[in-house]
Amino acid sequence: MNPKRRPIIAGNWKMNKTSTEARDLASKIMLLVTGVQDRDIVLAPPFTVLQTVGEAIRGTNVALAAQNLFWEDRGAFTGEISAEMLLDLGCRYVIIGHSERRQYFGETDEMVNKKLRQALRKGLFAIVCVGESLAEREQGKTNEVIERQVTGALKGMTEADMMKIVVAYEPVWAIGTGKTATPEQAEEIHILIRRKVLALYTHDVAETLRIQYGGSVTPENVSSLMAMQDIDGALVGGASLKPDSFATIVTFT
Ligand code: PGA
Repeated sequence: MNPKRRPIIAGNWKMNKTSTEARDLASKIMLLVTGVQDRDIVLAPPFTVLQTVGEAIRGTNVALAAQNLFWEDRGAFTGEISAEMLLDLGCRYVIIGHSERRQYFGETDEMVNKKLRQALRKGLFAIVCVGESLAEREQGKTNEVIERQVTGALKGMTEADMMKIVVAYEPVWAIGTGKTATPEQAEEIHILIRRKVLALYTHDVAETLRIQYGGSVTPENVSSLMAMQDIDGALVGGASLKPDSFATIVTFT
């Protein structure tokens, strides 16, 4: 953490929770995190419960996020969701390019870039995910993959756009596996990302950019991760489905 950057903790619920379950989880989380003012807190439930969770957090210190969006405004795109629909439900953020989208749904860097452009054009803040697979890490390709993903996602972004972007570094081998990157491993890639952004933009943009770590973040490891200079937050999957765990992660010291 660096005092110049406000921490941001986001819970990615992935494909979990019916509306009754979502209402219950959101209200339990709210009881535990109201009053936390020195960091940004974001919940990203599935599309089907955005409204439900939105109602539970309306007017509070917790912001609503979607897990995906489509890059067109409207039209014949069966099964897709537009930025306008997300805004209508009260979303402030959208997660873009999660590794599960890249892996299972064929999202490319180019698609990630189109989604990012659309999100920003419509006034959403974006959490853009990057991360290498285990095979890529073992082949020594981590840096190359991260640089390619960062450059691809950010293509055409202005300095003003960069102020609305959070990058999440999520090594694929650490997601849902219980195998967290060590704080040093994560920090190394966060520095790499910041350097890449510095090469593309100004010092100010690179220093202001918030970079979250994601991949098996737990109440036990959050503090050691957040102790690193260039780790500015966490994108939490599994542990965000348990109110106590998520609240403990949010209130890390
Ligand atoms: P995890 O997921 O915390 O369950 O590893 C993180 C993510 O995919 O955002």
